[in-house]
Amino acid sequence: MRIVLVGPPGAGKGTQAAFLAKNLSIPHISTGDLFRANISQGTALGVEAKGYMDRGELVPDEVTIGMAKDRMEQSDAEGGFLLDGFPRNVSQAEALDVMLKAAGMKLDAVLDLEVEEDEVVKRIAGRRICRNDSSHVFHVSYAAPKTEGVCDKCGGELYQRGDDTEDTVRNRLDVYHTQTEPIIDYYKAQGLVVTISALGEVNEITQRAMDALQK
Ligand code: AP5
Ligand code: MG
Repeated sequence: MRIVLVGPPGAGKGTQAAFLAKNLSIPHISTGDLFRANISQGTALGVEAKGYMDRGELVPDEVTIGMAKDRMEQSDAEGGFLLDGFPRNVSQAEALDVMLKAAGMKLDAVLDLEVEEDEVVKRIAGRRICRNDSSHVFHVSYAAPKTEGVCDKCGGELYQRGDDTEDTVRNRLDVYHTQTEPIIDYYKAQGLVVTISALGEVNEITQRAMDALQK
């Protein structure tokens, strides 16, 4: 299966992607995690992306599309993938269509996670992620680690993302509404969108998503 996950910052895309990717045996590809890995390794791409991310702006398409394409072309993604955070505007969606068409492939579904704004603000405010791997995600009250400040999965140090500050979150939400939401209509025109509520327990939402994808 080739699936795109879409939803506002803090909706739980990364959290759900981890379970869905496992259930569906496809890799979870998060452009945000790829950028953060480049930042922690100090690559040129990471240096370029950091300023945009800290301001809550989109990293330019030239950089993002190439990075996403390289990742999708790796051998583990031959049988499908779950995209989290890509595409994030209509031109990225068009580039993805061109890329898939050239390879004789197509998307199976676009899973749209719906959550209201005051809930995403609470989720983001309490989020802690792991220094070793930013896909290891916790929350101080909703998904607390066994030991405060320590990742349950690998023992790494937990910290608050640099773009999870109040000002940057406000900008990320604006960018989501103006630049990312239009991709939902773009994909509705292709009959691909499945919308589910992302409120409730994490495992209930995973089940809701699996049921919706099976239909
Ligand atoms: P990215 O890393 O993709 O951030 P985002 O879209 O803002 O989304 P988040 O990661 O903040 O939220 P999430 O939906 O994954 O929620 P999570 O599961 O962590 O992108 C960061 C930046 O990179 C962008 O701003 C941009 O600069 C750049 N970038 C990335 N992709 C790009 C692209 N394609 N083009 C250009 N630039 C790009 O959950 C949030 C919290 O809630 C966690 O603490 C979690 O434990 C908790 N939680 C999850 N589910 C529940 C639940 N059901 N109940 C209670 N708590 C929950
Ligand atoms: Mg995420």
